Amino acid sequence: MQLPSFFNDFTLPPLEWHQQMREWSATMRVTEPVWFDEQNESWRIFRYADHIRVQNDYATFSSAPAPHENNEAANSIIAMDPPRHRQLRSLVTPAFSARSIAQLAPRIEEITQELLQPLLVQGQMDVVAQLAVPLPIIVIADMLGFPHENWPLIKQWTDALLSDSSLGQEESSQDLEMPLTQEQVMILYEKMAHTIDERRRHPRQDILSLLLTAEVDGEHLSDDDLYAFFITLLVAGNVTTTQLIGNAFLCFDQHPDAWQQLRQDPSLAPVAIEEILRCLPPNRGTGGARTIIGGRVATTDVQLGDQLIRKGQVVKVTTISANFDEAQFPDPLRFDIRRNPNRHLSFGHGIHFCLGAPLARLEAKIVLENLLRLLPEWRRYKDVPLRQVRSNIVFGVRNLPITF
Ligand code: HEM
Repeated sequence: MQLPSFFNDFTLPPLEWHQQMREWSATMRVTEPVWFDEQNESWRIFRYADHIRVQNDYATFSSAPAPHENNEAANSIIAMDPPRHRQLRSLVTPAFSARSIAQLAPRIEEITQELLQPLLVQGQMDVVAQLAVPLPIIVIADMLGFPHENWPLIKQWTDALLSDSSLGQEESSQDLEMPLTQEQVMILYEKMAHTIDERRRHPRQDILSLLLTAEVDGEHLSDDDLYAFFITLLVAGNVTTTQLIGNAFLCFDQHPDAWQQLRQDPSLAPVAIEEILRCLPPNRGTGGARTIIGGRVATTDVQLGDQLIRKGQVVKVTTISANFDEAQFPDPLRFDIRRNPNRHLSFGHGIHFCLGAPLARLEAKIVLENLLRLLPEWRRYKDVPLRQVRSNIVFGVRNLPITF
């Protein structure tokens, strides 16, 4: 069987793509839950239980890049196995704990206000471009001590990294709305080098200073490790959260009754965010033959369901499928902002569980609280068609104009 045609069709309206993905996955969970995708020469899994198995068994299903992969994320913890993964991740775990992140709330609130206030008088805005894109970039840049006035450049750079790594070269270069010039990429690297240099001379209480003084096996991190950390946090921390915020609007636009429930009881926001994450996961989990974000490589021949996975073969997750698996979620098609428990896999599972989950959750919560307070009567502009993000890695909308 071939991949269905909708799979790589970024011209479909986002919710239509999502519906087709859900329907196809529901069939695959029954008929071929462990399926070999010949086009991408990789296995794709559909059932929740198999996702858990693969993500728990990191010795058999490695996160290191597949041998044929030219992976720019190779030095990132996302593409590492224990023991090095544990050593490096533990360096930054304290900075991303729920407790440390909670202390950022006033700053995130301030940035949200700065972004929203000038828009309030206008009575309309594009939620993605004017709120969901800049907010997470400014927050993570602040945490890294990286100048954030350049957030549009950081956004373009992220798009280029995600786009190059997921689509064919030709397609991605045509698609990028504003391709980065070599010169702009150099500017970003120079700024990164400058920030690292500066922090080396004048350490502060921030993540970068922590990394600069850290030792693993008695050695400081190499420059490659430092850059990889920096880029991982800058990239992983922005586009996914952007999509979560955009997807929240999409959910409430589709389910106005849920918005009314939230207005009546704003304390439901954190639980509602989990349901948004379950139903419209920002990570698409559809990448090609690559291991990055949710992909794994078998380190030995292994039986999964009734299929034999060979050593060296890639196994890809399908987050949407796992999140709608009826064996895990009662009435999975129902959007229920009170759903509890809600063990969705949108942040992954196991040792690579998203480091930034508390941060993404807090940003989304602050945005929702501000909306409930400042624009409770918002409406989506229905005449403007919504466009999908063109990436095999993330799922969401590129635009979402509202009026209030
Ligand atoms: C809604 C927003 C987000 C989603 C849906 C998301 C999703 C994910 C997923 C699925 C993984 C696991 C990948 C795997 O198992 O291969 C992951 C890992 C990771 N995420 Fe997130 N992420 C989000 C926000 C963030 C933020 C805000 C940050 C940081 C500032 C971040 C940093 C990371 C890092 C560093 C890893 C690698 C962890 C490791 O390998 O141990 N993420 N994320």
